[in-house]
Amino acid sequence: MPTKPYQPLLLRLLHGVNSILVILALISGYCVYNQFDGRWGKLAIPRINAIIDIHGTIGLTFFLFLPLFALYSLTLGQRRLAGYKALGKLSQVNKPIWWVTLHRLTNTAILLAAWMAWGSGKLMDETWLPMGQVDHSAYLAHLISWLVLFICLGLHLLMGIKVGGTPLLLSMASIKYRPEDSPQLWPAQAKQWLVDRGWLK
Ligand code: HEM
Ligand code: HEM
Repeated sequence: MPTKPYQPLLLRLLHGVNSILVILALISGYCVYNQFDGRWGKLAIPRINAIIDIHGTIGLTFFLFLPLFALYSLTLGQRRLAGYKALGKLSQVNKPIWWVTLHRLTNTAILLAAWMAWGSGKLMDETWLPMGQVDHSAYLAHLISWLVLFICLGLHLLMGIKVGGTPLLLSMASIKYRPEDSPQLWPAQAKQWLVDRGWLK
C-alpha cells in the first residue's frame, strides 16, 4: 500500500498563508484590471470603489510574506524545487521521474512568477489606473506576471494531481502533524540545523 503523503508542518503553514495571499491577489488584481482597464476583455462584475486599496493591502501583505516562504523553499524545502540541471532528466519521457521533475520545475516556476508579481507590484503607483494611465511599463509587467502566475498555478495543481493525486493536494491542506514535527521541537531542531552547518557552536 502506498504511504500517505506527508508535508512538514512548517511548509504547510508558510505555503498555506502564501497561497491564500496569492489567490486573493490574483482575484483582487483581476478586479482592478476589470474596473480600470479591460482592454483584453471585461466581465460584468460590480464595481468596488476601494478595490485598489484592497488589492494594495493584500499585495503589501504578500510582499512582506513571500521572502519567508521563499527562504524556506530555498533551504529546507530545496529538494522539492528543480533548476536547469534537472532538465536532463526530462529525456526519460513518461517515466515517473519525468513527471516528478516536471512537478518540481513547476514549483520553481511558480516561485519565480510570484517574485515577478512581487517586484512589478512594488513599482506600481496607485494613482495611474484611476487617471487612465494604462501604458506604464511597470503596469504591463505587473499584468504579465498575473498571467504567468495564473498559468503556473494551473500547472502546479495539474502536476500535483498527476504526481500524487488528490491525496497529495490534500496533504498540503491537512492540519494534523506527526509528533516529531511538533512546533515545540522547532527551536531545538533549528539549533541543530545551524550546528550541522557549522554556523553555530
Ligand atoms: C490583473 C492583475 C493585477 C492588477 C491590475 C494589479 C494592480 C495593482 C495596483 C494598481 C497596485 C498599486 C496599489 C497600491 O500601491 O496601493 C498594485 C500593487 C501591488 N500588487 Fe498588484 N495587480 C495585479 C495582480 C497582482 C498579483 C497576482 C500579485 C501577487 C501575487 C500582486 C501583487 C502586488 C504587490 C506586491 C503590490 C505592491 C503593494 C504595496 O507595496 O503597496 N498584484 N497592483
Ligand atoms: C492553491 C493551491 C495549492 C496547492 C493545493 C498546492 C499544493 C502543493 C503541494 C502538494 C506541494 C508539495 C509537493 C511535493 O510534496 O512534492 C507544493 C509545493 C510547493 N508549492 Fe504549492 N500549492 C498551491 C498553491 C501554491 C502557490 C500559489 C504557490 C506560489 C508561490 C505555490 C508554491 C509552491 C512551492 C514553491 C512548492 C515547493 C515548496 C518547497 O520547496 O518545499 N503553491 N504545493
